[in-house]
Amino acid sequence: MNSSHSIQALFQPFANGKMTLSNRIVMAPMTRQFAPNGIPGPDVADYYRRRAENGVGLIVTEGTAIDHPDASNQENVPNFYGEAALNGWANVVAAVHEAGGRIIPQIWHEGARGHVGDYTEADIAAIVQAFARAASEARRIGFDGIELHGAHGFLIDQFFWEKTNPRTDRYGGDMVARTRFAVEVIEACRRAVGPEFPIVLRFSQWKMSDYTVKLAESPMLLEQLLAPLVEAGVDMFHCSTRRFWEPEFEGSELNLAGWVKKVTGKPTIAVGSVGLDEEDSSFFAEGKGAGSSKIEGLIERLQREEFDLVAVGRALLADPAWASKIRDGRIDELIPFTPEALKTLY
Ligand SMILES: Cc1cc2nc3c(=O)[nH]c(=O)nc-3n(C[C@H](O)[C@H](O)[C@H](O)COP(=O)(O)O)c2cc1C
Repeated sequence: MNSSHSIQALFQPFANGKMTLSNRIVMAPMTRQFAPNGIPGPDVADYYRRRAENGVGLIVTEGTAIDHPDASNQENVPNFYGEAALNGWANVVAAVHEAGGRIIPQIWHEGARGHVGDYTEADIAAIVQAFARAASEARRIGFDGIELHGAHGFLIDQFFWEKTNPRTDRYGGDMVARTRFAVEVIEACRRAVGPEFPIVLRFSQWKMSDYTVKLAESPMLLEQLLAPLVEAGVDMFHCSTRRFWEPEFEGSELNLAGWVKKVTGKPTIAVGSVGLDEEDSSFFAEGKGAGSSKIEGLIERLQREEFDLVAVGRALLADPAWASKIRDGRIDELIPFTPEALKTLY
């Protein structure tokens, strides 16, 4: 980073009708598995409060399960239903707000155990309603919006992708037909929260099962995929990539967040290896540094308004003060990410 002046681009306020943030740094959603019985406790509230106190503009929580039997298949992942879990979340919200931060829950359904063809229309209707109830609870307990997890091969993405969606009814077929389930979820959430409450959709081209696959192979197909989602009520897209500097399509430097902003006109969040020294093929590899490589390129893209916000995952998991250290030029004080960081909830 050669100029403290340019780094300040990350610390400009963001305002877009429904959402006002003190800066452009977003904590990426990261599953931590520290919620025994699905209930986020005071340690979880402290974990998020620390990031808010240290200058993160918007926190997206770890994925948290809607009320459906298949929604969660990992131990100690927090629920987003039931009095105890929701009270836990209300304490998280209060802690983050006291610290001057903003926070939205990442609401998820991890996916069909087999494939989405196994669900009946009644199952689908029940899942849509469970998403809507979660959205309504998020608003009731004071969150600043919601993020729907539509990425990485989880349920909404299983409907998007032809390989995991063999349905021949109205939920399957061409690309637009495969958005039908997401459209119903978004519309139901919108009805549950009203017009002013922000709805963010996270989506990705890549899948947990295949890092190289693309849902949309061209800008035109990307536009076709996203138009129905905008129409249904998405306010902002969180465009999950593993490296923010990679061009999404040939012939342009724009990354996925850049293209999504261009074809939808909606604000976007970019993500992927911000603040990490080297390229990395897995999320958990050894030997990560806390470097600033490629951050100048990130700032330039932000200044060109290619995208609006920047999500930071592992760097913020390892160092709760990552944002304030970057802001104040205290680069030598950054704590590097290593897999050890996953073991504690500091
Ligand atoms: C420990 C860990 C847990 C994650 N859990 C989630 C999750 O619950 N939901 C999600 O959408 N992405 C999840 N991700 C992906 C991150 O949100 C992010 O996109 C990814 O780590 C790339 O950002 P980074 O390079 O800054 O770490 C997780 C990543 C890590 C490292």
